[in-house]
Amino acid sequence: MKKLRIIIVNICRLLLALTFILSGYVKAVDPLGTQYKLDDYLIAMSLSDYVPDFVTLGGAVGLAALEFSLGIFLLFSVRRRIVPRLILAMMVFMTALTVWIYAADPVKDCGCFGDAIKLTNGETLAKNIVLLVCAIVVARWRKDMKRLISKSNQWIVLNYTVIYIVLTSLYCLYALPTFDFRPYRVGTDIKKGMEIPEGAEQPEFVTTFIMKKDGQTKDFTLENYPDSTWEFVDSKTVQTKAGYEPPIHDFSITLNSTGEDITEAVLSHKGYTFLLISPHLGYADDSNFGNIDQIYEYATDYKVPFYCLTASTEKDIQRWIDMTGAEYPFCTTDERTLKTVIRSNPGLLLLKDGVIIGKWSHNQLPTTDELTAPLGKLEIGQMPKDNTASRILKVLMTFVLPLLLLTIADRMWAWSKWVRNKEKSNKLYQFFKNNRKMRKKIVAGNWKMNLNLQEGVALAKEINEALAAEKPNCDVVICTPFVHLASVAQVLDASVVGLGAENCANKEKGAYTGEVSASMVKSTGAQYVILGHSERRQYYGETAEILKEKVDLALANGLKVIFCCGETLEEREAEKQNEVVKAELVGSVFHLDAEAWKNIIIAYEPIWAIGTGKTATSDQAEEMLAYIRSIVAEKYGKEAAEETSILYGGSCKASNAPELFSKPNIDGGLIGGASLKCADFKGIIDAWKK
Ligand code: 13P
Repeated sequence: MKKLRIIIVNICRLLLALTFILSGYVKAVDPLGTQYKLDDYLIAMSLSDYVPDFVTLGGAVGLAALEFSLGIFLLFSVRRRIVPRLILAMMVFMTALTVWIYAADPVKDCGCFGDAIKLTNGETLAKNIVLLVCAIVVARWRKDMKRLISKSNQWIVLNYTVIYIVLTSLYCLYALPTFDFRPYRVGTDIKKGMEIPEGAEQPEFVTTFIMKKDGQTKDFTLENYPDSTWEFVDSKTVQTKAGYEPPIHDFSITLNSTGEDITEAVLSHKGYTFLLISPHLGYADDSNFGNIDQIYEYATDYKVPFYCLTASTEKDIQRWIDMTGAEYPFCTTDERTLKTVIRSNPGLLLLKDGVIIGKWSHNQLPTTDELTAPLGKLEIGQMPKDNTASRILKVLMTFVLPLLLLTIADRMWAWSKWVRNKEKSNKLYQFFKNNRKMRKKIVAGNWKMNLNLQEGVALAKEINEALAAEKPNCDVVICTPFVHLASVAQVLDASVVGLGAENCANKEKGAYTGEVSASMVKSTGAQYVILGHSERRQYYGETAEILKEKVDLALANGLKVIFCCGETLEEREAEKQNEVVKAELVGSVFHLDAEAWKNIIIAYEPIWAIGTGKTATSDQAEEMLAYIRSIVAEKYGKEAAEETSILYGGSCKASNAPELFSKPNIDGGLIGGASLKCADFKGIIDAWKK
């Protein structure tokens, strides 16, 4: 069942990631197209007058970067806490938006995939419902997503992705979209694109006639048109079927000076034609007008027709002429068509026999150094070879390859770490190869507030006998309530089973009614004391400061301290476990000197695993214990850290102990519930024999 869930979660994650990557990328390579789409939405919401252009352009770049980056992050499974939630929030918003466009039809194409893939509003809605379900699944079981890269290297993926996609958008704004998905790409025969093939579906219309007779009005169609006694009032024609629409429509050129339609003449012209395209001269970038004028001069010298196609008003055209000294003829073409033709204002198109053979943004116009001969003899006058493959290769080399190499390196590093850890956990290997003093393995019981004196003494006796009969492979300690200590000490053989208290006072002695001092504990024959248990922190308000005093007194009285630390469920979910545990150690034991440290045993006990039956997985426990050892190493040096016993506690049982104890950093367990029965406790102790 769990396996199936993991498979489903990862399929959903892949589907979402690939969709977000694709939709983000096609938007990023065409930021102006994305901006136009956002404008369409704002117009449909009657908000376009309130939102300035730079906001929609920034929004377009930001939206593309967000979608692409979230897609990549999901694919790599980085930032698992926040990314699935952001994706879910986006899917909720997008689905609501598509419900609206499906119902009210304010825009014809949602623009999800820019111009690369066009979906009907119905298809978009269906797609978003599927993705929304996937987003819910992924957000609910985000931890089932398999990481492609380890946590420590996440930052590389995060930064590289965001920088890459924002730079891509900026480059495409400066130049032209790296991939052109519109019907005016280089190589397009504009006239052919306008043709309607024979037998193509025709649009259908129905006309209704409103007629009147004897004061009564009625609707008729051609099929039931009435006799002449009826008087005609009005008629209505509605389109009932769209019919075939050629990829290029609404393309026409009207010469402003004469009002003549010159579309046919331009598209049928044999040879070259330059078309300077500016949807709006009022908003056109005029920084490169010198280059445009030079190209116009070149065109005049070589008798190449040159027109400026625009949808601007006479006033704007005149302003442009005054500003740039333009002498070329101006023509009128539909604004939307011009915005579709080239994503640059202004931009330049070169036609040869009505076929587009060159497109330039105003930032990358051909220079006079290139225009030295008739176009037929120049490279820019030839149809360029299709370089789609090389552009795809560029994307692969600049984005996919570095991330792929990083992933491979990361996986190899993780694998070699795993091998190293395996070697470390192999005791024979360690014995021969390392010849290092192996730190103490310990299983300690914490009876908490259970068992009366007689029951406690009986259990202690039973444990002592069992272990005397069969020597354990580890140190064994039982920590009992204060009232049991002296009696239990009588029945234990101290060389087989150690004895500890569950607490001691933070005062040396005196008028502290109800308290038991460290020296009293020691006087019972006990050698250990548990301090810092989460139950004492939680229910008896023991702060780091109080615990520090207790630790000092316990050590001063010759007791060894089993010092507990661990995080709550909320803290783990917020991925703060390292921070919490470090603060607990820093607050109460890291002030000790190296000599005193030798009497400290650490017990990591995640609070969410105590008495809940919910054990931390052996990997989770190992990860934490390795972390604890690393901060002990930082403080007391590597050697001291290697000799510090660090235990795991929290629903540890005979059934899971072997797996937990097989981990290289886990030196045993602090056992609650399972220490109250000799057989259960012995089962855990025996895990060291496996
Ligand atoms: P349990 O293993 O019984 O949940 O308790 C763990 C514990 O708190 C030991 O100190």
